Amino acid sequence: MGIAALREAAKPYAFDFGTAIEAPFLANAKFAEVLSSQFSVLEAENSMKFERIHPSKDVYDFEDADALVAFAKQHNMRFRGHTLVWHSQIAKWVLEGGYNAVQMRQILDEHIRKVAGRYAADIYAWDVVNEAFEEDGSLRHTPWFDQPGIGFSQGTGYIKQAFRWANAAAPNAKLFYNDYNNETLCPKSDAMYAMARDLLENGVPIDGVGLQMHLLPDADAPETLKSIYDNIVRFARLGLDIEITELDIRMPDGSPESLDRQAKLYAELVRMAKDLPALKLIQFWGFTDAHSWIPGFFKGTGWALPFDENYLPKPAVEAMLAVL
Ligand code: XIL
Repeated sequence: MGIAALREAAKPYAFDFGTAIEAPFLANAKFAEVLSSQFSVLEAENSMKFERIHPSKDVYDFEDADALVAFAKQHNMRFRGHTLVWHSQIAKWVLEGGYNAVQMRQILDEHIRKVAGRYAADIYAWDVVNEAFEEDGSLRHTPWFDQPGIGFSQGTGYIKQAFRWANAAAPNAKLFYNDYNNETLCPKSDAMYAMARDLLENGVPIDGVGLQMHLLPDADAPETLKSIYDNIVRFARLGLDIEITELDIRMPDGSPESLDRQAKLYAELVRMAKDLPALKLIQFWGFTDAHSWIPGFFKGTGWALPFDENYLPKPAVEAMLAVL
């Protein structure tokens, strides 16, 4: 029995369904079949991160990233790049090289030029900078920001520079700032909003913001959903695209009650996308409970994705399709 496809159901609307995966899974025929039939946007869960794609000083490893990009092309999916500047999963040689500020600047400049440049014709959007803010809206201390920094680590200076470098390397790609716990109106999203305005006013090429949306089930509270909606609306008023980039909803168990609650929350987000044309993407962080970062990172939770461990659609899929 074929599963009604999310990607087909989204066609009449301004948004797509996407997912992030690891390249080795492509070898599994069943995995590849569900992936290509259900989703029209693909992202690398890890393969384009600094430590993977640039493991030693003069060594780039494009193998997995290339395989994912090729798969996307073959199946008429658009590709999303993740991520150029992040405090996590930076290669050891960078962290342990004892580089000064000038050298860190050169390293990041070259890295962005090489990676964004290689895929300039393939990638429609990049998470240029990922997770630069703390929960209170202050800038996070990262190797790029201040250890030793890239030579201009005042405020959002390094972020602006990264966007300019990315734009030079991939002039046709939409450039995103991406973060988590920024879905609702809160200090972190306020800081992101202030930065986005500042970037736009200063001619920095930012096209959108990514809301990761690693959600807990209590995000279904009406006031939370309203806050998410209002937050998306304020970014849309700046003329920015908004993409949900890493959606999952982690549950304490896989009981019918839990899966039903999860389904309703997934459906609410699809309703929002239908209603808000600036919301251009609903992308899941994986798609099957067989491969999800959640059980490893948030102990005691799981069942976070719309397809079960056997790649069969959970109630979430039916609920999302019912909205469309
Ligand atoms: C996670 C991956 O899913 C894991 O496989 C990896 O071990 C750690 O990173 N925010 C992000 C993603 O932007 O890149 C993270 O992905 C999850 C949180």
